[in-house]
Amino acid sequence: MDSKKSPLAENWLFSRPKLSHLRFVLGFSLLLLVFFICNLSTSTTFLSRRIKRPEDASSVISKCRQLKLHAGPPPHFHHRQQSDRFEEGSRPVLIRNAKIWTGRKNGTYVLNGDILLDKGIIKRIGHFHSATLQSYGSHLMVMDAKGSWVTPGIVDIHSHLGDGSAPELTGADDTNSFKGTIQPWLRSLDGLNTHDYSYPLSVAGGVTTALILPGSANAIGGQAFVIKLRETKEKSPSSMLLEPPYHINNSFPNPNLPPRWRHMKHACGENPSDVYKDTRMDTIWEFRKAYNTAKQIKDKQDEYCARALSNDWKDLGEFPNALQWEALVDVLRGRVKVNVHCYEAVDLDGLVRLSNEFSFPIAAFHHASEAYLVPDLLKKAYGKPPAIALFATNARYKREAYRASEFAPRILAQQGLTVLMKSDHSVLNSRYLLYEAQQAHFYGFPENLAIASVTSNSADVMGMGHRIGYVKEGYDADLVIWDSHPMALGATPVQVFIDGIAQLESPFTVSKPDTFQRSPKVPNFDEEARKAVTYEGLPPLLPQKRPLDSTIVFRNVKSVYKVEEGLMRQTQLGQANALGTVVARNGRIVCYGEAESCLVSATKDGSVFVIDLDGGSISPGLVSFGSPLGLEHINQEPSTNDGNVIDPLRHTVPDVLGGGSAMIRAVDGLQYASRDALLAYRAGVTVGVTAPARKGFYGGLGTSFSFSAEHKLEQGAIVQEITAVHVSVRHFSNPSVSTQIAALRRLLLGPSEGEAGVWFDKIKTGQMPLVVEAHSADIIATLIILKQQVEAETRQKLRFTITGASEAHLLAKELGENDIGIILNPPRPFPYVWEDRRILPGPPLSNNSAIIELVHNNVVVGIGCEEIWSARNLPFDVAWAAIESGARLSREQALAIGSVNLQKLLGVDIDETRMDLVATRGGDLLSFESRVVAVLSPRQQVVDLFEGEH
Ligand SMILES: *[C@@H]1O[C@H](CO)[C@@H](O)[C@H](O)[C@H]1NC(C)=O
Ligand SMILES: *[C@@H]1O[C@H](CO)[C@@H](O)[C@H](O)[C@H]1NC(C)=O
Ligand SMILES: *[C@@H]1O[C@H](CO)[C@@H](O)[C@H](O)[C@H]1NC(C)=O
Repeated sequence: MDSKKSPLAENWLFSRPKLSHLRFVLGFSLLLLVFFICNLSTSTTFLSRRIKRPEDASSVISKCRQLKLHAGPPPHFHHRQQSDRFEEGSRPVLIRNAKIWTGRKNGTYVLNGDILLDKGIIKRIGHFHSATLQSYGSHLMVMDAKGSWVTPGIVDIHSHLGDGSAPELTGADDTNSFKGTIQPWLRSLDGLNTHDYSYPLSVAGGVTTALILPGSANAIGGQAFVIKLRETKEKSPSSMLLEPPYHINNSFPNPNLPPRWRHMKHACGENPSDVYKDTRMDTIWEFRKAYNTAKQIKDKQDEYCARALSNDWKDLGEFPNALQWEALVDVLRGRVKVNVHCYEAVDLDGLVRLSNEFSFPIAAFHHASEAYLVPDLLKKAYGKPPAIALFATNARYKREAYRASEFAPRILAQQGLTVLMKSDHSVLNSRYLLYEAQQAHFYGFPENLAIASVTSNSADVMGMGHRIGYVKEGYDADLVIWDSHPMALGATPVQVFIDGIAQLESPFTVSKPDTFQRSPKVPNFDEEARKAVTYEGLPPLLPQKRPLDSTIVFRNVKSVYKVEEGLMRQTQLGQANALGTVVARNGRIVCYGEAESCLVSATKDGSVFVIDLDGGSISPGLVSFGSPLGLEHINQEPSTNDGNVIDPLRHTVPDVLGGGSAMIRAVDGLQYASRDALLAYRAGVTVGVTAPARKGFYGGLGTSFSFSAEHKLEQGAIVQEITAVHVSVRHFSNPSVSTQIAALRRLLLGPSEGEAGVWFDKIKTGQMPLVVEAHSADIIATLIILKQQVEAETRQKLRFTITGASEAHLLAKELGENDIGIILNPPRPFPYVWEDRRILPGPPLSNNSAIIELVHNNVVVGIGCEEIWSARNLPFDVAWAAIESGARLSREQALAIGSVNLQKLLGVDIDETRMDLVATRGGDLLSFESRVVAVLSPRQQVVDLFEGEH
């Protein structure tokens, strides 16, 4: 402080006023007061003699006061007796005997009791005597949960449901605007289609609320809205909204209420750069320009309001505003939940800087595949550290996602950051959002946080934690009753309530073993998680192959699965207290059975390596098919991919290839040791079958290869050079389906010409299968007729497989009768496009899954992997198929649909003595409690061990 005092300070602060002065001041004040009172009646103030107080002054003042209010629920919100979303006429519900995951105490507080729902809210939780409920009379619907788990409805923090509708139609994609990279004025609400097929499907997975974000093609894509997924009586998009900002329909019930939370989408990195040919530098500059504009408006507003609130109206003019920027100005006022699509450290850094430059908080970074590598950076964001919204295992599809890790949720949580799991529906089908949390848990994300990541924590990050995401009195009556513990694979709703209204009309349930009612004891991946960080997301994955001559003894083995005569068979090795022993040498099982007899054979060898499987098993490796795995490293990067074949129905095939009858071989394009292949291998998926990548009708010759080889020349790297001929008959816009069928008919019945002729001769004689990708039941029916025609003409049986096959269940009987095999891909269906729309959804919406429907009709069924990253999840998919069937699909059958059936259907010779064998600890390959610890490969003459690598 300067030691010199200002004259003013001298006078007023440090000198004592003289008495005469005081008298004068008092007298003058009295005079003023009289003058003031006299003028009150005429409603003009003392000052307004000179400056006129504007007509709308009171509304301006109210508006200015409003600007200072924090967003959130009004005080006493929890005293409400009825939800604003209550539908007149919906009945009160009593759920008895529930095991309630409340969301309280960090997601650890579980309560056994009853839940009373009325007027759209949770009225009471506890144990009720009949007397308490008497007032409800017979109006009360009573449901006995019989001890089932009940959670809050699933809350999806990142969805495009309704904006990018299913089935996808060209006129109806409303996720992205391409009119500029900065568009805070757009609203996802304006594109919300109420007829998206996804609503009932996602509700059937327990999803009750979703934040509908605009897409990521723009740096600022627009405003997002929270919806509940149930159909409303009014049937309008607006009536689906949860606490929309009052101004969207100009209804301000009370100007003194705090404003409701608003939501906005931002995106950085590759997506916005791609559309506008911007670099990352351009995108950040666009952000800064936009925020600077918003800041200038905000500053003007603040100056304006400072004057208005001190009654200084002189030349004040209009309240400064701009319709286009008002939402971004509200971001600067801290009243908008900003959700940012942002993957890499470079992008996260840019947005953290932006948040500090302009002082606005970020609610969550989405995708954020490198967040776990830069926790300290995240903590530097303005205000609170953002939450991180992730996929569990969907990764590596572009550079931005290449370093993503399945261990990110646990690592981020350890850093004290909030982790959410999200669907990005329909990137992932939000029906299975809980599965994302289950996978995260499988890889070490604590159970309480995993459940919270799709309920309480996502609700809190959305600014809706005062009414959804918890099971608490006074909260919205959004609940799911589950048929198992929510972290058990395949957990399926028995009933779903939204605003107290049951959503499933006559749900189908399957019976599950009691063990599914407790949380799974997931494996230990501490070492892998540590390495993910050490290697910045790229830990070495190539297995350390053990030399040929080592002998491995597996102790405490519960069962051995083997393929015999083309069928999967299981041998149980003893009981829980006396499990069996398996001895393997040179990658082959040489003995299995009781411990003593097998150990004798092992001890003859010099070096013996002992592995305790702790009740695990040994089973054939699974087979991946359906994605370009083996031909791609990074899906969206052409320089890492084999590329597409030339479709002779659309383009001229050069003479150098032999023209239109050229047959391309996938084996020629194989790329080994991609991270997706190695991760699949470590999960027990040891072999890939892949067809040449295509965008049209014509594929080429498939191949089968090993996931563990480093290159093609390694022993056993190629499992089978040529497997089958692959084509697609689909509703591509061009050429027509009938043209594609005509081409196929000519290839099968016409003159045998060129290279295609050679291979189609093998198909006509049944030496090789024809594998056709087809989805629509109409196309499948046409293919059945074509097969019959060809067989009538050639008098030979065709080997015929249909893949994709979303509508195959409609023809299950005919497919069985005509001996056509089916590879369902995806294994759990979704109505992506028109030709997929008639799916069989499975429980709780239908009794049978498509798999069961087909198996019951004697169809040989396999399941596919949709994308290259999802091959690693095949064991989960196979297990899920078995779980979803009740007990209608045995463990052996389930393993077969992921292995030997695929080989049969895809033309891979089955040599039972040369199949890879996978050893799992803590359960078999279908268990959600086991992990793969070794792969034995007789073909490659090696044993790979996945533990103790340093
Ligand atoms: C919440 O749970 C996680 C994991 O179980 C734990 O690490 C964390 O410390 C807990 N937080 C609080 C505030 O109790
Ligand atoms: C405006 O929206 C609110 C929901 O926030 C709703 O309750 C109200 O009925 C709507 N008013 C009109 C006129 O549509
Ligand atoms: C579901 O299918 C099973 C076996 O196919 C059958 O036993 C059961 O009755 C069916 N349940 C219903 C509700 O239709």
